[in-house]
Amino acid sequence: MINAVKPVGPSREEFAERLLKGSAKKSYFPVVDIDWDAPLDPDKFYLPPRTVSLYGTPIWDEMTRAQRIELSRQELVNTLSAGIWFENILSQALLRKLMHKDPTSRSSHYALTELGDETRHMVMFGKAIERVGAKPVRPRRYHRIIINTLPLFFRGSVLWMAALIGEEIFDSLQRQMMDDPELQPIIQRLMRIHVTEEARHIQFARDGLRRRAPQMRRPERWFVGNINGLGGWFFRYLFTNPISYRRAGLDARQARAAARNSAHHHQVQVAGFAPLAAFLTEVGLMGPLARRGWARTKFL
Ligand SMILES: [Fe+2]
Ligand SMILES: [Fe+2]
Repeated sequence: MINAVKPVGPSREEFAERLLKGSAKKSYFPVVDIDWDAPLDPDKFYLPPRTVSLYGTPIWDEMTRAQRIELSRQELVNTLSAGIWFENILSQALLRKLMHKDPTSRSSHYALTELGDETRHMVMFGKAIERVGAKPVRPRRYHRIIINTLPLFFRGSVLWMAALIGEEIFDSLQRQMMDDPELQPIIQRLMRIHVTEEARHIQFARDGLRRRAPQMRRPERWFVGNINGLGGWFFRYLFTNPISYRRAGLDARQARAAARNSAHHHQVQVAGFAPLAAFLTEVGLMGPLARRGWARTKFL
């Protein structure tokens, strides 16, 4: 299909150039930009209490402050662990794509810059898990094998869609979390660094999808516009992972059921998904099946 309307605004190359300038001006090196030796405050949370999955449920009401802090620590480690393997598959997909691209183009250079950011984020998340004194959550071997094949399918518009699902929900939650006075300062700093660099990644992915959307053929539009609904099932699993409850000394089945039925938890999820939902609707990539998936898993 030929798009008769000449696109307004910057070209992909101009857009990438802008992101490169932004990266040169404001990037972090977490190994030295976080004070890893700063003491942890035993009375502070690792995720703001109102964003912990059980907040507001009868189980939460019966927990002591120390138990609540412990659950926040386990849930933080669970999301940091998932963040690491997500950034791994995104990086693999970007690197494979680069093999086919012009190495002198600005968009190739920005993709490489993003890879550099993600490499540092993975170190930062790994160090944070170690610093808070918890064990990383590792997928089972067969899950790891499946996860490792995903980059092969993350091409074209699917790559940008996957990037947005992996990045935007965490990003909008972190934005809502990072100023909470109950939060450990070291985690606050980590989130601030991540949000700053991630904002450019999200712009790059959104620009990629926005440019492609009007030119997609109908089968592609249908596929990309509906497959994203699987994200809801994935995040529901992640945000109520039994491992976190078990490690915090709770009955995992009971805790998971309570979180999945919690109106407050649904509100947190809806707020986290709202910016991405608005974007997907704007570019016409929120198909009926996707909408149903996100709604069934309480992100809409
Ligand atoms: Fe990242
Ligand atoms: Fe990213």
